[in-house]
Amino acid sequence: MTDRLFIFDTTLRDGEQVPGCQLNTVEKIQVAKQLEQLGVDVIEAGFPISSPGDFNSVIEISKAVTWPVICALTRAVEKDIDVAAESLKYAKHKRIHTGIGTSDSHIKYKFQSNREEILERAIAAVKYAKRYVDDVEFYAEDAGRTDNEYLARVVEAVIKAGATVVNIPDTTGYCLPDEYGNKIKYLMEHVDGIDKAIISTHCHNDLGLATANTLSGVLNGARQVEVTINGIGERAGNTSLEEISMILKCHKLDIETNINTTKIYPTSRMVSSLMNMPVQPNKAIVGRNAFAHSSGIHQDGVLKNVSTYEIMNPKDVGLDDNSIVLTARSGRAALRYRLSVLGVEVDDEEKVDKIYQKFLKLADQKKEVNDDDILMLAGADIAETRAVKLDFLQVTTGMGVRSVASIGLDISGQKFEEASTGNGPVDAAICALKKIIQKHMTLKEFTIQAISKGSDDVGKVHMQVEYNGHIYYGFGANTDIVTASVEAYIDCINKFKR
Ligand code: KIV
Ligand code: ZN
Repeated sequence: MTDRLFIFDTTLRDGEQVPGCQLNTVEKIQVAKQLEQLGVDVIEAGFPISSPGDFNSVIEISKAVTWPVICALTRAVEKDIDVAAESLKYAKHKRIHTGIGTSDSHIKYKFQSNREEILERAIAAVKYAKRYVDDVEFYAEDAGRTDNEYLARVVEAVIKAGATVVNIPDTTGYCLPDEYGNKIKYLMEHVDGIDKAIISTHCHNDLGLATANTLSGVLNGARQVEVTINGIGERAGNTSLEEISMILKCHKLDIETNINTTKIYPTSRMVSSLMNMPVQPNKAIVGRNAFAHSSGIHQDGVLKNVSTYEIMNPKDVGLDDNSIVLTARSGRAALRYRLSVLGVEVDDEEKVDKIYQKFLKLADQKKEVNDDDILMLAGADIAETRAVKLDFLQVTTGMGVRSVASIGLDISGQKFEEASTGNGPVDAAICALKKIIQKHMTLKEFTIQAISKGSDDVGKVHMQVEYNGHIYYGFGANTDIVTASVEAYIDCINKFKR
């Protein structure tokens, strides 16, 4: 009989913890709705006690989404659980995810405690969460490095206390696939009442083993996997949803999920674009080169029969052949269709028109407007509502001359202009900007990336600016990289805490 594997998506919690990947509530709702379309069973929507923003996002996602279970993370702390329960009040199906570190390292250094005390705290947290919801998931943080005998005692105790799901995280990404699989097997064989709960995997990718470890966990009895889109997450990331889903589709393991794999690619693009987190070109399933056959021998084989070098159909992951077809001659209908393929439903005609006008402007600058460009245009609205906006920028630069920039900013409706010289065009523009925004800010990191090919491509800029002891992450995109750089700097400024 085919077994059902539950997909628990933590893109909006573990994924969103990544510096620079923070989304606002509107963006999180957009991702959550797309995850619902994709067919995930559980959406971990946030860690509500961590910030008012996270609290609010869990509330709004709960209202926006119907089918998936909405899950909120807590520590094994009563206040955390109270706040999580409050944030879930609108969820149609709700789960509290509570837990505590169980490895000797966590017990000794993080909690200055002992195994017995941690066991009691775990039981108490589950019982406390049960006052609010039926569905309680317990995580044994750093289970990957926790002694199996003690882990089995904890798992047995929390199931007895009412946990419906028990998560066995390899928090540090340390385990080898056999070791992680054997851990799950050990629990399946040694925990009394294990059939009353679902065992979940949650693997990190520090050694590049997250997917292998997750699969090993599943083959040994885990029936829920915690994953993220594009494998984003703390440090080297989490197990990627697309890899696990396609492994189960390509191999006959008698394990099925509810994932509509044709939604994988649009979801990947949406998350990458909203989080300003590029997908590495050779990333399995969703990387730009994942289905590109470049060597002559491979191309020849594929032309004779695709099965020679292709183990899955690109259409099965939602990659259609005409993903780069929008040009200056495309109409609103083509744009709206492309937006919907990418998971962006724009029901307001005025908004479509606004995006379309920006699209025409961009299409004038570059021959083909690709999916990344479109997602960027659809998200550009947010920039328009920010306090500091770039009004104009003019730069003179060249070999053997000092660059000169003049800049105009609109700050809450008031216009400011300044000019400066600099070591290069970006330096000149930022020096001019700093004459207007007179704050002590330091550029810490600056990366420029061209997305596809061609000298007319949109340049994407990521920046980190330090201000008042905090690091702020900014993003800008433009066919002109100096403008993109200034926009990224302004994006940082708009995030400064006042
Ligand atoms: O990696 C981890 O241990 C976690 C838990 C909080 C579930 O993300
Ligand atoms: Zn994690």
